[in-house]
This record gives sequence, structure tokens and C-alpha cells, in this order.
Amino acid sequence: MKPGWSKSVTRLSLLIYLHYSLFQRVLITGANGLLGQHLVRLMGRSPEYDILATGRDEQPRFSGGNCGYQSLDITDTDAVNRVFVDFEPDVVINCAAMTQVDECEIKRDICWQVNALAVESLAKSCLVRGTRLVHVSTDFVFDGISGPYKESARPSPLSYYGRSKLAGENYARGAGMDKWSIVRTVLVYGVAENLPRNNFVWWLKDNLEAGKTVQIVTDQWRTPTYALDLATGIEKMVRFSKQGVYHLSGRELFSIYEFALEIAKTLDLDASLIKPATAASFSQPAVRPSKSGFIILKAESELGYSPHSVQDSIMEMVKEEARSRFSS
Ligand SMILES: NC(=O)c1ccc[n+]([C@@H]2O[C@H](COP(=O)([O-])OP(=O)(O)OC[C@H]3O[C@@H](n4cnc5c(N)ncnc54)[C@H](OP(=O)(O)O)[C@@H]3O)[C@@H](O)[C@H]2O)c1
Repeated sequence: MKPGWSKSVTRLSLLIYLHYSLFQRVLITGANGLLGQHLVRLMGRSPEYDILATGRDEQPRFSGGNCGYQSLDITDTDAVNRVFVDFEPDVVINCAAMTQVDECEIKRDICWQVNALAVESLAKSCLVRGTRLVHVSTDFVFDGISGPYKESARPSPLSYYGRSKLAGENYARGAGMDKWSIVRTVLVYGVAENLPRNNFVWWLKDNLEAGKTVQIVTDQWRTPTYALDLATGIEKMVRFSKQGVYHLSGRELFSIYEFALEIAKTLDLDASLIKPATAASFSQPAVRPSKSGFIILKAESELGYSPHSVQDSIMEMVKEEARSRFSS
């Protein structure tokens, strides 16, 4: 063998070793949703991941994404098992959930199946195959009496949605796996394709642009979360193999009314159309926490998580919307 060859062979072996040791097969559930689409877009760009995006629809709602796509209802345990056998994921990121809080209050059975029982069966499949489970949860597991909350705060949900999500958390952490993590987040906004519902930023923009008055609550506080920041934080958790509970949200605590004013100011819309209201003036089936929001110090220090300000993220959304309109 020529002397240079052995060096090249060693280097090649090292590269192959690094490739396979870092390379991860990632199954994303609920990939057609707001967070799922951001994760698919972000992680699909990285050669370290082989992504299988799954959602209830037969076809993806997003374009591109550089990933495989398969229809998967997470309440169908046999279908979940088949995907585990075929794809052999190293990581599952569970973004699938019944997220309409009021609907959960009314359709309790289906809410429990999706947000609690399906997480139990995902966790069991992960346990059997040694797969890491990253489960996404919510600030609605708290009662909103003493927010913003740290990861160590004691959950005490007010709504059925919150209870079902807390049960999902408990199934994820109690399945007997070492490799589990729970990512809680708060009021998520961002740009995604073909969503059935508008998120708060676009809903407000549409209304103000149409000259419509909107009533917004002054007595509920949140740390709103830009979906791209959330996806970036989750990717870091996967990359650094993080375990345990992490709070990923924005850094700024706003009442929802203040958040609306900030959006109007950033988008140069008529803020006089935004009228203050109290939560009690709305008759909604589900009770919402008053002051939630998160302290994100753990994510900042352990993950280098650094979310955009609300102003910057809304400007990013506007640019992204323009880019997607231009390319379609
Ligand atoms: N959005 C927020 O403000 C917020 C705040 C706190 C926490 N979270 C949490 O963040 C996670 C992601 O939510 P998101 O904002 O991306 O909400 P989303 O846009 O509503 O996405 C949820 C996705 O889950 C899918 N899904 C529902 N039932 C399913 C099932 N049985 N099998 C497979 N997929 C199913 C939905 O599909 P369909 O579209 O077909 O219904 C939807 O695409 C959830 O765990 C949520 O609880 C969200």
C-alpha cells in the first residue's frame, strides 16, 4: 500500500464513523401543524438528520422540506408500531396534539386519546426500541397564579386541555425510558403553509387591515413564542441529547393586549382598533391561566437558546411571507 493511502483510509473511516455516529433518523408527528412545519424545514436542511414527517393528511400541507412524508394518526397504535418497525427512528419529536383549548373542553374523549393516551403508546414504542422521545407540552399545565414559571414549578391545570397535556407529560416521563424530554411552550406564532387556523399575529393583522375592531384581554399574561425559535431550541435538545423538562418561549412577558399593541406598532397598523377587555367578558368553555409565561434561563444557559424579540420575529415573519409569495 502506498504511504499516503493509509492516511486517506483512516481519514475516510473517521468521516464514516462521524457521519453514522452523528446521523439521526428523526420521526416528527403532527408535522403539518405550525411547529411541525418549522421543525421539518429547519431539521430537513441539516445533513445530520434523516427526517420522516408524519401528519393525519394523506399529503403534506407544506412544500419542499427535504424529508419523507407519511400519513400517521398517533392514536392508531398499530400504525405507530409499523412506522417504528419500518423507519427505526433514533428520535421521535411529538408535535401532534389536539390544540384547540375550547374544543378539548367539549370533546374530552378525543382530546384524551390524542394528548394523553397516544403519548403513552408512543413512549412505550420508544422504550422498546431505545428511541429518544421529545414531547411538546404547554404553559396550560399551570394555573397562572404565580407565573412566569420555571421548569421546577408545580403544574396545576385549569382546563381539560391542560389536564390532558399534563397526563401526556406524565406518560412520557413515566414510561421507564432514560431518553425522554418535555418541551413546554407558550402562545406560538409564525408562518406556516395551509394551516386550518390563523395564528394570533396573522389573525390580528387581517382584522386590523380590514378596519375591524378587536377585543383583547388585558388580564392574561404570556411570553409569546416565535415558532422558528421553538424549533431551533428543540433541534438543539436533539443535537445535545438533552433529558428532562425545558421551557422554551419568548423572553418578553406581555399581557395579550400589550402583545397585540406591539404587533400593531411593528406592522404599522391602526392600534386604536384594539380595545381592552377582561377574560370574564368572554364566554369560553375552557378557563385559561391568568399569568403564565416562562423563565427560560435553563434553556438559555444549557442550550444557548436565544429567542428573537417580538418586534424582530414579526419582521422576520413579514419577510418570510413575502419570500413564500414570491416563490409560489
Ligand atoms: N400553538 C400554541 O400556541 C401552543 C402553545 C403551547 C403549547 N403548544 C403545543 O405545541 C405543540 C405543537 O402545536 P402547534 O402549535 O404546532 O399546533 P397545531 O398547528 O394545531 O399542530 C398540531 C398538529 O397535530 C395534528 N394532530 C392532531 N391530532 C392528531 C392525531 N391524532 N395524529 C396525528 N396528528 C394529529 C394536527 O393535525 P390537524 O391539522 O389535522 O388537526 C396538527 O397538524 C402541541 O403539543 C401543543 O400542545 C402550542
